[in-house]
Amino acid sequence: KVLIVDFGSQVTQLIARRVREEGVYSEIVPFQSAEAAFHAMKPKAVILSGGPESVHEEGSPRAPQAIFESGVPVLGICYGQMTMAAQLGGEVEGGHHREFGRAEVEALDDCGLFEDVWRKGESYPVWMSHGDRITRLPPGFARYGTSENAPFAVIGDEKRRYYGLMFHPEVIHTPHGAALLRNFVRRIAGLKGDWSMKAFRQEAVARIREQVGSGRVICGLSGGVDSAVAAVLIHEAIGDQLTCVFVDHGLLRLGEAKKVVALFRDSYNIPLVHVDASSEFLGALAGVTDPEVKRKTIGSLFIDVFDKEAKAVGGADFLAQGTLYPDVIESVSFTGGPSVTIKSHHNVGGLPARMRMKLVEPLRELFKDEVRELGRELGLPEAFVGRHPFPGPGLAIRIPGEVTREKCDVLRLADEIFLEEIRRAGLYDDIWQAFAVLLPVRTVGVMGDGRTYDHVCALRAVTSVDGMTADFYPFDMSFLGRAATRIINEVRGINRVVYDVTSKPPGTIEWE
Ligand code: XMP
Repeated sequence: KVLIVDFGSQVTQLIARRVREEGVYSEIVPFQSAEAAFHAMKPKAVILSGGPESVHEEGSPRAPQAIFESGVPVLGICYGQMTMAAQLGGEVEGGHHREFGRAEVEALDDCGLFEDVWRKGESYPVWMSHGDRITRLPPGFARYGTSENAPFAVIGDEKRRYYGLMFHPEVIHTPHGAALLRNFVRRIAGLKGDWSMKAFRQEAVARIREQVGSGRVICGLSGGVDSAVAAVLIHEAIGDQLTCVFVDHGLLRLGEAKKVVALFRDSYNIPLVHVDASSEFLGALAGVTDPEVKRKTIGSLFIDVFDKEAKAVGGADFLAQGTLYPDVIESVSFTGGPSVTIKSHHNVGGLPARMRMKLVEPLRELFKDEVRELGRELGLPEAFVGRHPFPGPGLAIRIPGEVTREKCDVLRLADEIFLEEIRRAGLYDDIWQAFAVLLPVRTVGVMGDGRTYDHVCALRAVTSVDGMTADFYPFDMSFLGRAATRIINEVRGINRVVYDVTSKPPGTIEWE
């Protein structure tokens, strides 16, 4: 086991993910409870995360001294490196503005961390964190890597197996970062790497049982993979103490609601309440054109309907949600600068406060691909698990301008044709997300001998690892031509199709 002490970096979960990818179990604990967790868990290695503070600020956090007294290997990243250096007798200079950026690190000497990854004398790109700076090494430490602005980019005490990095090995912008972390957990800490999703499933089931006890849990199904996996996992843990509520807002894809109901009722025998609330949602959206107002309208109405249904089934002590890690960070905003909300994701916040229920969020540490793996592990059908993600507010954020039932129907057909063509071409699994967008723009066309004046449909398909960054999918022109022709011929109300070639950033995946 690896204990990750969290000092508040936005990317701490990525450390956990990289360690999991090595087949090693890890647990993240906030620094405030690190001491107790360290004694309870008896980890074989500790990683100290980055964080927003300076070790010079009064009351800034420290790693429990017990960790350094125990003899386990320790890896400090950014803030973690600074506090380790300061706590072990080195000197750290503060006062630099904390910023992040690309840098080159030169490997000055061989060390355990670099084995088979970095060679002495060579330079490598990393994602550097500048803030505090080490000015004198603690006793026993040597310098293994340097960069222009960070003379102590990599430090270590090979005897005690302590290492410190001034860059983030856990982010993909540090190309060999995962390999460095692998060296730390596998070679230096000697951990075996036999942990898997099967183990996660067992641990999650145990955690849910412990948290819930004999309480009742209610789970909102969205039709997507995340809430479905959460529900099946929770059902495995507590059986019929779980009730699922599927609020159908009428903004789902073609045939989707039916499939969800069939899967839950027939295949899993999970108690499910299906509410058709499409009229209420479309009524509330009438005249609304601002994307954030749409999201908030749908979010708060969702809460109202869900609340009512929850009361109707007799209430519950816990609310289960399929919140994933990217939902958590994107909603909190991103590193550096003042907080900015890019989009308010409606499965985070709001609901729990209003309903005064405790939350059960068994997927909170996972990324999308890991949730899919867990879904397979739980026996969900591949066609369901492999489905592209779908946003909570549904088609409403794929219809810029006012949303109406008619527009939803038009969009559903175009979307289905696009996806059908993608499946037929065998491309579905290469694409992270593909969908149609119905634009509020009308253009002139000619069909047969007549003039048409209809809507434009934009097609969007992207590749991504976790939804946080994305590239547009490079279809063949002939594929796009085929999809466009079918949509224009088969969907009344659309007479022009365009393809979106924007990456994220600077675009987002959805249009609103
Ligand atoms: P963006 O558009 O922000 O989307 O690049 C990133 C990923 O998140 C999905 N998304 C949502 N998912 N509730 C959700 O559950 C939401 O409100 C929401 N908004 C966007 C989007 O489909 C993409 O996969």
